[in-house]
Amino acid sequence: MSSSDDLVPNDSSHKALYDDLERRREEAATGGGEERIERQHEKDKLTARERLDILLDDGSFEELGTFVRHQETDFGLDDHRPYGDGVVTGYGTIHGRLVYVFSQDFTVYGGSLGRAHADKIVNVMEKALENGAPVIGLNDSGGARIQEGVKSLGGYADIFKLNTDASGVIPQISAIMGPCAGGAVYSPAITDFTFMVEDSSYMFVTGPNVVKTVTQEDVTAEELGGARTHATKSGVSHVTCSNDVDCLHRIRELMRYLPQNCEEDPPAVPREEVESNLDPDRLDTLVPDEPNQPYDMRDVIEQIADAGDFFEIQPDFGENLLTGFSRVGGRPVGIVANQPAVLAGVLDIDSSIKGARFVRFCDAFNIPLLVFEDVPGFLPGTDQEWNGVIKHGAKLLYAFCEATVPRITVITRKAYGGAYDVMNSKHIGGDLNFAWPTAEVAVMGPKSAVEIIYRDELNEAEDPEAAKDDFVEQYRNKFATPYVAAEYGYVDDVIKPSETRKRLIRGFDMLEDKVVNNPPKKHGNLPL
Ligand code: HXC
Repeated sequence: MSSSDDLVPNDSSHKALYDDLERRREEAATGGGEERIERQHEKDKLTARERLDILLDDGSFEELGTFVRHQETDFGLDDHRPYGDGVVTGYGTIHGRLVYVFSQDFTVYGGSLGRAHADKIVNVMEKALENGAPVIGLNDSGGARIQEGVKSLGGYADIFKLNTDASGVIPQISAIMGPCAGGAVYSPAITDFTFMVEDSSYMFVTGPNVVKTVTQEDVTAEELGGARTHATKSGVSHVTCSNDVDCLHRIRELMRYLPQNCEEDPPAVPREEVESNLDPDRLDTLVPDEPNQPYDMRDVIEQIADAGDFFEIQPDFGENLLTGFSRVGGRPVGIVANQPAVLAGVLDIDSSIKGARFVRFCDAFNIPLLVFEDVPGFLPGTDQEWNGVIKHGAKLLYAFCEATVPRITVITRKAYGGAYDVMNSKHIGGDLNFAWPTAEVAVMGPKSAVEIIYRDELNEAEDPEAAKDDFVEQYRNKFATPYVAAEYGYVDDVIKPSETRKRLIRGFDMLEDKVVNNPPKKHGNLPL
């Protein structure tokens, strides 16, 4: 790796100074040198600068801290002080809007974070906070720079503190595009969305070797903390990408839905440019006649959202609940939807945590919430109870209860039990609640209800099965409809599926200037 000499050119004419500047810039731009860049490419990874070129609008990148380097006193690093110190930082635009960025350069000390490296990240984060614009971090790093010892730990801590200060103020997005190990994982974990690249990124607190020593488990880096693992098992990752380019494109796509900061509204598309996918016949027949037959809630969203728009968040985790961004009438919305195609759309620990975090993001950033509800209740069983479905389910409830953005619910089929309350009911602050004629709003499903309330009658009946069918029929007619809830005003209107899109557009228009203030407090105590 070549190192810049610090000599001021002998010839001090302007031309020589400009040539010298150019030479230094070129040196900074090559990072760890051609050989290491080649190694990066061999691993199907782009360099830090190539990534920024794709992420940002053409020619918009303005670099900050190009010539920053670490101090000469650091252990073992004295004669090797590459410009940039292993991270490219600055600002640019995405779809014409300002964003701050940092992109770790694995070709310089494995992208490891030392004091100067951390200071560069801190600089852009502070600017992002002061100027109210998102921060996007592209992570590709061996973690704390070993030679700089506690200074690098301090650098990480400075970043964690700023991540926390910025939480809920500006959107923060992390892309994991290489290693991200040790305490380094906690910065992405505090940010709002984590993207991971398949086969080239991993995140873990302790790597496979330490795992083997401590627990005797044999596990590969990919199994322990690869993109699939965090998408399906841990829920640490929100979006899985097939390669670097896909990842950067998808971050650009996500940015279309987000405001610059918590005081702005998310960007709307002009109403006249909005397209609809609606096929009324298809939507009116989408919910099956048989109440226990599954259907895919994504098909409902596809019909109702503008041009079928749905940027899904955590599609492979807690799959019984869908979360993601969409537009209705040009206006960005956050969709939270039970998924009857997976576990009958039941709520459980993973889906509650997933939904709660998403609802809180939308609420923090003024993104209205649209809920599609078809939920038979919370998942029973020792596994769920022992692992805390009570406190995790309470997260989703709490998140909806405290949300002050416009909130509309559409009950497509089942709205049973506590899950009826949780899924953005009017009782907890939902603004409008529509139900389709297929809706069943009840304490529980007909069969279970009949077995409890008619236990004696069923025991005494000559033909218990026939008696049960009779009771189920009676119960269904009385409770398994939307009309009891509508009589109390808990459901604002019963509508045909094909009318839903129009009603939602008008509903969100009506709620555009909604103002609700929660009681003043330092902060609530979300069940954790
Ligand atoms: C200094 C580092 C480094 C580090 C890598 N390098 N990690 N230099 N500090 N943490 C250097 C290597 O010496 C090497 O330099 C170059 O980067 C590329 O590394 P390779 O090992 O050749 O690359 P690869 O085979 O791809 O392996 C990548 C790796 C491995 C898996 C990341 O380098 C590794 O295990 N690094 C150590 C990871 C680690 O334990 N970090 C500390 C985590 S704890 P040369 O000059 O040979 O090219 C932590 C605490 C944070 O981060 C706490 C916050 C609270």
